[in-house]
Amino acid sequence: MSAYDGATVVERMRNHWGGDTDHLYGVLVRQLADDADRGGVVREILRGREDAPPGDMLQLRLLAGIHRIVLRGDAPELARFYPSVGGTADRYAVWPAVEPVLRAHVAELRDALDVAPQTNEVGRSVALLAGLSEAVRRTGLAKVRLLEPGASAGLNLLVDRFRFVGDGWSAGPSDAHLVLDGCEAPGFSPATFEVVERRGCDLDPFEATTDEGAAYLRSFVWPHMPERDGRLVAALATLRETPVAVDRAGAAEWVRARLAESADDDVLTVVWHSITRQYWPPQEYAAMLAAIDEARPRMPVARVALEDPDPLPTQGSWRPQVEVDDDVIGWCTHHGPPLELVPS
Ligand SMILES: C[S@@+](CC[C@H](N)C(=O)[O-])C[C@H]1O[C@@H](n2cnc3c(N)ncnc32)[C@H](O)[C@@H]1O
Repeated sequence: MSAYDGATVVERMRNHWGGDTDHLYGVLVRQLADDADRGGVVREILRGREDAPPGDMLQLRLLAGIHRIVLRGDAPELARFYPSVGGTADRYAVWPAVEPVLRAHVAELRDALDVAPQTNEVGRSVALLAGLSEAVRRTGLAKVRLLEPGASAGLNLLVDRFRFVGDGWSAGPSDAHLVLDGCEAPGFSPATFEVVERRGCDLDPFEATTDEGAAYLRSFVWPHMPERDGRLVAALATLRETPVAVDRAGAAEWVRARLAESADDDVLTVVWHSITRQYWPPQEYAAMLAAIDEARPRMPVARVALEDPDPLPTQGSWRPQVEVDDDVIGWCTHHGPPLELVPS
């Protein structure tokens, strides 16, 4: 049985990690599902949502709602089980700690079912660094206007404020809040560039400069991946120092409008997108590419991306690829490092 299988919300909850109990959520989803089956508080929280489509991922919405209560310090007994807040308690003993929290927060957790999961994964900025470096080398232009469709909270637009440490190379300010180490890619030579403008768009932009917005974003990071949460917290500190504008708009229309704005001849416009293309309507990507191609005679422009191969290979394993215009220049994981570059 694969993760997500199941005819009902409760079955999909139980199966989300496909029986993997190596981490807290793998255990918790089974216990939440068992409680719903015996008519407990989880049944009450899910009431009226039993017919939610699989794509709504109600199980992840509920887990994030519980995580928010833990992150804000309102469930100290339960926090002992959450690695994201330093918890180390035996995950198999979590039920007696979680059940009273569910009972005390039924209304809040029912509201949490309305909030679609959204992640802004800052590890992906290592792909942007690689692609930007390639685009800067190809064009000889080091002033960059950075545009990001599908930006979520826009955290990756802060790529020049992050520090990267790879095998034999490093980049970025030495006092950066966010240090991405383990980038590997021996032989990589990061280019020097200056971001002169940064802006993003998203269908559902995430305002993460407030404490509440930051808590929402953090709550969707799985607590058994505290290193991802640590990166996110560091990037959120960077965002508070350098806020970025993320407009509410669809990708293609927004990119077309931005490219209609004039740019200085010595500025390279980079359209960057990561793990968002798969969610776009079928025509959106083609329309964005057309807008970029139409802009090329008017201004230096490059497209840099970290996206799953399209179409996905039917056999064998694959990783998201780093794209610069029509070229694949490397690969990394869905969460970023390590980076591997195509041998030159
Ligand atoms: C998986 S998240 C990735 C966010 C960010 N790019 C990152 O890598 O962390 C996908 C994002 O794409 C946005 N999105 C989906 N369809 C879109 C569209 N047609 N136009 C703009 N944004 C879209 C979603 O709202 C979501 O924030």
